[in-house]
Amino acid sequence: MVSDFLEAVEEAFLIKTGALDQITDAIITVDNEDRLIYLNKAAAEQYAIDKNKALGLKLKVLYRQLWFTPDAEQEAALSLKEKGYYQGTNVHVRPKGQKAVIESVVTVLKDKSGNKVGLMSIMRDITDRVNVADWLVESNQRLNYAIEASGMMIYEIDPKTNKINIIRGLEELLGYSPEEVQYSVGWWINQILPEDVPKAKEQFYPTKNVNNIVNEYHIHHKKGNYIVVRGIAKIIKDTTGKRVRIIGGMQNITQYKEMQAKLEEYAKNLEGLVEEKTKQLTNAQVKLEEYAKNLEKLVEERTMQLQHKERLATIGQIAGMVGHDIRNPLHAIVNELYFAKQTMTQVPENKNKQDTLESISIIQEQVDYISKIVTDLQDYAKTLKPEIKEVDLPELIASSFSIIKVPENIVLTVNIEDHLKMRTDPTFIRRTLTNLVNNAIQAMPKGGKLTITASQKENQTTITVEDTGKGIPEEIKPKLFTPLFTTKSKGQGFGLAVTKRLIEALGGTISFESEAGKGTIFFIKFSPKTKR
Ligand SMILES: Nc1ncnc2c1ncn2[C@@H]1O[C@H](COP(=O)(O)OP(=O)(O)OP(=O)(O)O)[C@@H](O)[C@H]1O
Ligand SMILES: [Mg+2]
Repeated sequence: MVSDFLEAVEEAFLIKTGALDQITDAIITVDNEDRLIYLNKAAAEQYAIDKNKALGLKLKVLYRQLWFTPDAEQEAALSLKEKGYYQGTNVHVRPKGQKAVIESVVTVLKDKSGNKVGLMSIMRDITDRVNVADWLVESNQRLNYAIEASGMMIYEIDPKTNKINIIRGLEELLGYSPEEVQYSVGWWINQILPEDVPKAKEQFYPTKNVNNIVNEYHIHHKKGNYIVVRGIAKIIKDTTGKRVRIIGGMQNITQYKEMQAKLEEYAKNLEGLVEEKTKQLTNAQVKLEEYAKNLEKLVEERTMQLQHKERLATIGQIAGMVGHDIRNPLHAIVNELYFAKQTMTQVPENKNKQDTLESISIIQEQVDYISKIVTDLQDYAKTLKPEIKEVDLPELIASSFSIIKVPENIVLTVNIEDHLKMRTDPTFIRRTLTNLVNNAIQAMPKGGKLTITASQKENQTTITVEDTGKGIPEEIKPKLFTPLFTTKSKGQGFGLAVTKRLIEALGGTISFESEAGKGTIFFIKFSPKTKR
């Protein structure tokens, strides 16, 4: 029976011609005992069987586990029994261990009288197809995911009808639901900001012979505003190069544009800021240079002042010594003059006597002057040590005037509260008053008013010496207390310098107000803190 069958098969499938070996599907036939009676080249290769050795061997014993799982085998057996064939897809394990997805069709072979003589299996390896299908599904999923994630609106245009079909993302991008938009490209062009229409049109009716068109334009949002989108259009062509479809996308880049603008502005501001800071720095540098220059000048000035002070100190020292040396001969001269005057009283009156007395008087005046210079110099040079005692100011001032001669053309007014007392060194006050009064008198060669006042208020004692003389010109006011500063031909310029030292040694202050041509007033003040 089997040989009958083989004959039939040989004839039917042109085994002899080897036609079945050209087929890539594996073809295997078995007899009713499951013995292998035919396999084509593809089967031998796929299942790594030597065709000649395999024939006659029991297929199940050899390959059962490679073909079907027990469930699949049961299913196949049932199907063969009931329908005379089995069709299914199963995972086969290849001899080397790799898995293959096999689509198999098993049919019952019958002889001429209709008896089952065996089975024939045609097995197609669809592993690659399955893999490709899986890959396609996966890649499609990935693509969809990417499109979703981009938030793009995707559309396609049929160039034949110019109808636009929105695939996704309409509401997300423009706020419209699908029913609210029209499907003519013209409607879409109307949604675009007029000045952007020319370039946006390229997306919908491409004129250039390109595959991709990318540009940015403004499109109307349902809310009424325009948004900026980046449009991408891809022209799909058939094999003849004819446009069959345009696939396009629109992505909202409004925020990106705003950020970009902000960034640009920020960069510009930064530039301004840097410029401003640079300017400030430059200014600071200029100021610093100026300051350095001033500092230089200041140092120079201070050095000069120091040198001046040093010089004055040296002058002071020498003056003290000279004064000391002059004082003794001066005393001798004064004594001699006294005796000479005494002697002259015994000389009878005559012209010579008169002349000699006049000479003696002039010498005495000059000696007084020398004596004053010596005293001033010494006062300026020596360390001052005031001897403080309770002093009656009216008395002290009156005693000062006993040694100052006030010319007749000057009216003296002394204005002091009775019994005004203070603790001070009376000799210092007397020397001060002498200097100030002398200056006042010297300022009023043509006469005037000299006013002395002394008062106490809230424990502050103030003494003033006021004249109606020529006053002090503005330009010399700052130099007034400087030693050796004088505007007088016979002046030493020591009077006020000495006075200041004396007052400061007593803890007081001296100041003045003066107006050229009107007069001058000097203030001496002892405040409670400095009062002794
Ligand atoms: N009451 C005043 N009115 C106008 N000028 C004054 C008066 N007191 C001082 N001066 C000015 O101040 C200068 C300095 O006075 P200061 O008493 O120190 O020196 P002096 O009077 O010139 O000389 P010395 O007092 O040594 O004889 C004077 O030369 C004078 O120009
Ligand atoms: Mg003077």
